[in-house]
Amino acid sequence: MSDAAIRLWPALGGARINPNIYGHFAEHLGRCVYEGIWVGPRSSIPNEQGMRLDVLAGLKQLRTPVLRWPGGCFADDYHWRAGIGPVSKRPATVNIWWQQGESNEFGTDEFMSLCRILGSEPYLCCNVGTGSAREARDWVEYCNYGGESYLSRMRARHGSPEPYGVRFWGVGNETWGCGGRFRAEDYAKEYVRFANYMRTMDPGIELVACGTCYEDYKNPALVVWNHDFCEEMYHPDLIDHLSMHRYFRRGSGADFSDGEFRALFADVLAMERDLELAEAVLAYFYPDKSVGIIFDEWGVWHPEATVENGLEQAHTLRDALLAGAVLNLFNRWAHRVTMANIAQTINVLQCMAMTDGKKMFLTPTYHVFDMMRGHMAANLVTQEVDCPTFDAHPIGLREKKAVPALSVSASRSGKRIVLSVVNQSVDEDVETVIEVREATIANVTGRMLNSDTPRDRNTFETPKAVTPKRLKIENPAGDFVYTFPAHSLTVLGITVE
Ligand code: AHR
Repeated sequence: MSDAAIRLWPALGGARINPNIYGHFAEHLGRCVYEGIWVGPRSSIPNEQGMRLDVLAGLKQLRTPVLRWPGGCFADDYHWRAGIGPVSKRPATVNIWWQQGESNEFGTDEFMSLCRILGSEPYLCCNVGTGSAREARDWVEYCNYGGESYLSRMRARHGSPEPYGVRFWGVGNETWGCGGRFRAEDYAKEYVRFANYMRTMDPGIELVACGTCYEDYKNPALVVWNHDFCEEMYHPDLIDHLSMHRYFRRGSGADFSDGEFRALFADVLAMERDLELAEAVLAYFYPDKSVGIIFDEWGVWHPEATVENGLEQAHTLRDALLAGAVLNLFNRWAHRVTMANIAQTINVLQCMAMTDGKKMFLTPTYHVFDMMRGHMAANLVTQEVDCPTFDAHPIGLREKKAVPALSVSASRSGKRIVLSVVNQSVDEDVETVIEVREATIANVTGRMLNSDTPRDRNTFETPKAVTPKRLKIENPAGDFVYTFPAHSLTVLGITVE
């Protein structure tokens, strides 16, 4: 008898998984944008229009669907006009949050070129903290206005006669914190003012309001933020998505106990709680509209990542598995989660790649995004999972929870099912019967990410210590048994007839 069972019902139609769940976030912070992406057209590092080719190739392979920019905390002190026009005329400014200079060499037009090269949708976060509704509305005009105007002519002079058509606009970032320290009611008033003029400038844009998640509940004023904001923000036509941020931290990047490993995966249950609570608020205040939930910042933030080192940290298999478990969660919430942006693309926090001059390596988390990209735009498959559990205490919750050893999601496009499974047990393999109901399996292929210990990591010296391996799977005629190794991610492609 196997330890676990995964049953799938591909014939039952499920919600479409928004590809934007597999999105990224790049802030002017440390070496994320400068060095990580932008090296300038005259750099000896091979580049296209100033952006390093190795990084572009990696992000293209991921089919990066959407990219959030320019912050983060940086956004609420960013004045977009400083970053357009001839580079030599752009002012040098100060990045107050991340304590560094800002050359403004990389601005709106460079960001749009990046998105065009990658085939990604841009997601801009406008400045509520030190900016104005006028400035935000003008940015929408500069990017999106197709008629004749001073700002659209300026955009044309800067290389783009055609509008950029930016669909997603964040109205501030963490406005309860670095983005202005507002109270929910005060932010709601500001939000209406900004959103009113931005939306009127381009009725096609989608507006994202700042919310809070359960982790923020250490501050009592934030416990009821989502509720209070929605109550005060009485214009359902002005909100399309509510954003939340969640960072995970248990032990340090490469040095953690088995207990901290377990606790990290328990924290995914706390994130699910964020989703449940936010969904309840949105359903109550906007019953006639499906306002989406966006996690536009998420990932591990280890204690060694500080302002002093530009938020750089180690990249182990454990982080990658956490990313797999979170992406499984977002897939299972496909009916409500409209976007997610892991923080942050290059060099900073849970990034996809680290660079050092001409050198670059891909992190284990990169491989998770690569392995799971088959879920993008597929339809969620109904699943039932019976598996062993372990007890751990999710952050912010009152008591210990039974955490399932297997984190699972499945999706279907045509005859192909993608099944992704993280074995969240630090030391137990889990033998599992996989049943695909009301369909016949024709073929199974797969890849697995695993290593001797979850502490193994990629570095400049060992860039391929943690990389996926192709699996040889005997083609089963019906149900089949597969053993998910301890601390692993397995992604199976199951073709059905
Ligand atoms: O991603 C780093 C920072 O974390 C962002 O600037 C901010 O929004 C969050 O607190």
